Amino acid sequence: IKSISIGLLGLGTVGSGVVQIVERHQDKLIHQIGCPVEITKIVVKNLDKQRDIEIDPSKLTTDPNEVIENPNIDIVVEVMGGIEDTRNYVVKALQNKKHVVTANKDLMALYGAELLQIASENGCDLFFEASVAGGIPIIRSLVDGLASDRITKMMGIVNGTTNYILTKMSQEGRPYGEVLKEAQELGYAESDPTADVEGLDAARKMAILATLGFSMQIDLDDVKVSGISSITEEDLDYSKRLGYTMKLIGIADREEDKVEVSVQPTLLPNNHPLATVNDVYNAVYVCGEAVGETMFYGPGAGRFPTATSIVSDLVEVMKNMLLGVNGSKYVAPQFKKSLKSDEE
Ligand code: NDP
Ligand code: HSE
Repeated sequence: IKSISIGLLGLGTVGSGVVQIVERHQDKLIHQIGCPVEITKIVVKNLDKQRDIEIDPSKLTTDPNEVIENPNIDIVVEVMGGIEDTRNYVVKALQNKKHVVTANKDLMALYGAELLQIASENGCDLFFEASVAGGIPIIRSLVDGLASDRITKMMGIVNGTTNYILTKMSQEGRPYGEVLKEAQELGYAESDPTADVEGLDAARKMAILATLGFSMQIDLDDVKVSGISSITEEDLDYSKRLGYTMKLIGIADREEDKVEVSVQPTLLPNNHPLATVNDVYNAVYVCGEAVGETMFYGPGAGRFPTATSIVSDLVEVMKNMLLGVNGSKYVAPQFKKSLKSDEE
């Protein structure tokens, strides 16, 4: 292979970070895969938008077919967000034998099983490390690092925006609306932040983690959700005075063959390890029968942490291309879904 050509769908917070890391870390990429990596085409909504990175205007297009139907592109990076149109683009890209890397948890929580199946049928990789917990390699840890174990529980803070809001409201006494606006300006929030503050974004991530960790197809509807939009500064102040810290906590729990997954605001004693996870940081506690307790911590959103996960997925796809083993990584869930709530 002389060089690897990548097409981007999206050049916002995350897409811009991908362009920057591919440029800045080109030496390391060449060292790992033995050839240059180039981003050759980028789909955006608005060609005239002012961007905070330098980009060759001839690379920009508003037509997704210039990426997904382009015979010169090897890998598609989907960082535009959205669900139905994006699903069609990803399906087409895979059918055109392009590997896909995505940060889109909305898409993966709803259509992950179908898309992984299409990827495998076409001998393509579909990787989505950035879809959960930004820069923390939690998916790789579950799928590779803990592959031999039986996971019994996962618990954590998996949304950066809400953790940022709760931290600033509680520690600095600042109002909800002001801190949410700041999280949007910092590029942490979804384009519609309702998904963040109502717990849906965290629920999507917990559905993805539970599906992979428990090897059972957990759907979004299986996750009980409540968010933080009605929490006041007074609530936080009161809990602080009682020695507790409020966090939006996702829990996926398995007892024998029964599973329960939820996302809700939770009061944690101040000395609980998750109580000290602040700002945009995320943390995921994973307990396995053999390994025992493990904990993963890092930035849960933002340009460079998220882009790091994407470019690391790209490295794995490119190594697989050199070895000719694409499309073989993810296996379908092993167990039939069995929810605790089905018994109630
Ligand atoms: P942005 O809103 O910053 O960027 C979206 C990009 O996609 C923009 O470049 C936009 O074009 C382009 N775009 C959107 N809709 C269309 C369309 N219909 N046709 C063509 N181009 C389109 O989003 P983010 O970068 O923040 O997020 C991207 C994805 O990554 C989402 O799925 C998000 O959930 C996920 N993610 C985000 C994280 C973060 O910290 N921000 C962390 C982890 C995952 P234009 O620039 O012209 O407007
Ligand atoms: N809006 C998401 C968050 C982005 O705040 O966690 C990272 O998935």
